Amino acid sequence: MSQLSVKHLLGIKNLTAGDIELILQTADTFKEVLNRPIRKVPSLRDITIANVFFENSTRTRLSFELAQKRLSADVINFSSSSSSVKKGETLLDTVNNILAMKVDMIVMRHSSPGSPHFLAKHIRANIVNAGDGTHEHPTQALLDSFSIREKFGGVAGRRVAIIGDILHSRVALSNIFALQKQGAEVMVCGPVTLLPRYIRELGVKVELDVRKALRWCDVANVLRIQLERQQIKYFPSLREYSLYYGISKAMLDELDKEILLMHPGPINRGVELTSDAADSHHSVILNQVENGVAVRMAVLFLLAQTG
Ligand code: CP
Repeated sequence: MSQLSVKHLLGIKNLTAGDIELILQTADTFKEVLNRPIRKVPSLRDITIANVFFENSTRTRLSFELAQKRLSADVINFSSSSSSVKKGETLLDTVNNILAMKVDMIVMRHSSPGSPHFLAKHIRANIVNAGDGTHEHPTQALLDSFSIREKFGGVAGRRVAIIGDILHSRVALSNIFALQKQGAEVMVCGPVTLLPRYIRELGVKVELDVRKALRWCDVANVLRIQLERQQIKYFPSLREYSLYYGISKAMLDELDKEILLMHPGPINRGVELTSDAADSHHSVILNQVENGVAVRMAVLFLLAQTG
């Protein structure tokens, strides 16, 4: 297989296992490029990409921009806070105006779940979902799988516990789809108020006790408490959350096994992770960020082949 089955990367749900394998293998090649003295290839020299961000981002936006520049694409950046969206322009009008400038690909982050799917029905350019509200964040899940493969040699058969605010997390849903398609076992762990009601229907294990989840897993992917998406109180206080669900280095050390600590960022230090855990030898958090560039190069390169 040398081509993706999809024209857009809207989510992991509509990728095949073959698509995921192709992206991760292509990312292997680009990671090798990124370790050369000249970290640039001409693969997307004739392509123009717009990064259209309606929500804040550090890692995803910079990682996409760097991936595009490493592939020699022309890049423009749009941030809704300084745009004519503030004057009432619609999403579709905004994107159509960007496309009128002969842009070939849109990378979009938006707070509304399904917004990239809506765009895909109305425009011809390739679309990459860089996170749509609480729905999916496909490139995060792909770089997480890439990082697990890198450390363990593969994802199949591995036990991955996703711990924290599952209810508001697009990273959780994309990871569940990606890991299951590659043959991993997936557990979610968090306070019952932060677990979606439908979660068991996705075929994941559910655990409320974080120590049991840590004993079970090879990989702990710890998620941020997304206070900005919480309209009501889901737990009494951050202090109490940290007491019951916060992970420290001592908790990881006492497992006496190899365990990979992942986090998509940004970290709330002292809430879901103590600083000594986040910065410990268990942590691959900055490796995830590094791998994000190679994985996003692979996604952009492969989508460009689909026209
Ligand atoms: N992991 C992630 O999506 O981080 P940003 O919100 O900083 O892009």
